[in-house]
This record gives sequence, C-alpha cells and structure tokens, in this order.
Amino acid sequence: MWQKKWILCNWKMNGSIAKNFQLLSAVKQTQPTATYIGIASPYPYLLQTSEILRDTQIASGTQDCSRFKTAGAYSGEVSAQMIADCGGTFTLIGHSERRNYFSENNETLRCKLENALNASIIPVLCVGETLNERENNQAENVISSQLEILKGLNISQIAIAYEPVWAIGTGVTASTSQIETIHKFIYNEVLSMLCKDANIRLLYGGSVSAKNVQEILTTQYVDGALVGGASLKADEITDMIVSIEKL
Ligand code: PGA
Repeated sequence: MWQKKWILCNWKMNGSIAKNFQLLSAVKQTQPTATYIGIASPYPYLLQTSEILRDTQIASGTQDCSRFKTAGAYSGEVSAQMIADCGGTFTLIGHSERRNYFSENNETLRCKLENALNASIIPVLCVGETLNERENNQAENVISSQLEILKGLNISQIAIAYEPVWAIGTGVTASTSQIETIHKFIYNEVLSMLCKDANIRLLYGGSVSAKNVQEILTTQYVDGALVGGASLKADEITDMIVSIEKL
C-alpha cells in the first residue's frame, strides 16, 4: 500500500447509518486495486464502516485520536487502541479544524502521533498555512514548525497531508506549482528527520474533486489526496477513484 496512490476520505462531522451504507456500497463497487482508499469516519460509525469494508482493500480510519495513552477517566475521549479494536487502521492527526477549534498544539499532537503508532495505526499528520501566513511568505516556516513533532521518532514510514487552510472547503484549490513547491519542501524536511530509505507519502487536501484529482495526483511529489466535501457524494468519489485507478 505504501507504493500506491492514496485517496483518504475525510467525512468530518457528517453521515448517518443509512447514508453511510449507501455511500460505502458505492465506493465498494469500484473495487480499487491500484489505489489505497481510506474512509475517515466519525467515531460512532467506525464499526459500521469496518464491517461494511471487511474483505475489501478499502481501509477504515478516524479523524483524530486521544492524546491520553492509557484507558481511564477521560470522558469523551477515544483512544488509538479503541480505534484499532474497532478495525481502524489509520487516523488523521492535527487537521486544521482541530488546530483551530480545539487549539491543538505540537505537544498534544506529538502525544496523539505516538499513541497511534503504539496502537499500530498509521498517523496521517495534517499541516498547512493560513492565507495570511501565505501572503506574508510564512508558509514554509509554519509548515516546518508543524513538522517538528516528527523529530526523534523512530519510524520508517509516515504519511503527511498538506492542506492549505485557505483551500479547505472553499472551492479554491492550490495551483499545481504551489502544491509541488510545498510538497518538495515537506519531502526534504521529513527525509532529513527519518532514515534515508523511509517511505513518505504526501497527500494534498483542499477542494479536491473528480474534476481536478487527476491533475493534482500527477503533480510531482504528490502521492495522493485527502478529500473532504467531495467524499460525501457517491458519484463524485466513485468517479474520482475510477479516474485514479486509470493513472
Ligand atoms: P475539502 O476538505 O476537500 O472539503 O476542501 C479537505 C479536508 O479538510 O480534509
């Protein structure tokens, strides 16, 4: 799976048992073999997603995990271990909505990252700059400090999603040259922190659709996409998978 193109679907706080069933049935029918597809559902639907996707090559995962290591008195929290127990194989970490609405900082995110790794779940670290930061030429500095949480980790594979905050849910996609520049930067930063033959998967996220996915995924240094809004529409996501399978 580390050599495939990735499409991760970030459902955010959307879905219902009935809607998920329809959406997952449509995704299942695409029978992807060349693409690694993952569904990051809200916690209550993880078990449903895992059950429906059982015996397929499509992965189930979540959008976050707890920063607390062990089970205990942490009301409302869901541990990485529980995610694994319910069939989750990956989790997003540090999505900009978490950083923004829940003030998640590097210290918190490092705990989450370690917890995911300890539970054998793939952490997908999300990084990206705001519009203001880009306009002030701070994009690389901001991303560099977000990547610092990887320092000292003894890992040989990691997935990073570059999601410019100004492109999320806005219909504005970063240009392929903007994406390539930042992805190259991230690749080199991450490589300098890991072993030389590390597997690094870099996903782009921010208004990815069936229309632009091919162009984005054929951009240098892009190994996949993290898809929000478009992943909630059966036609859109299946078209996307079918076109990526052909690449
Ligand atoms: P979007 O969201 O595709 O709706 O822009 C992407 C994300 O937030 O992961």
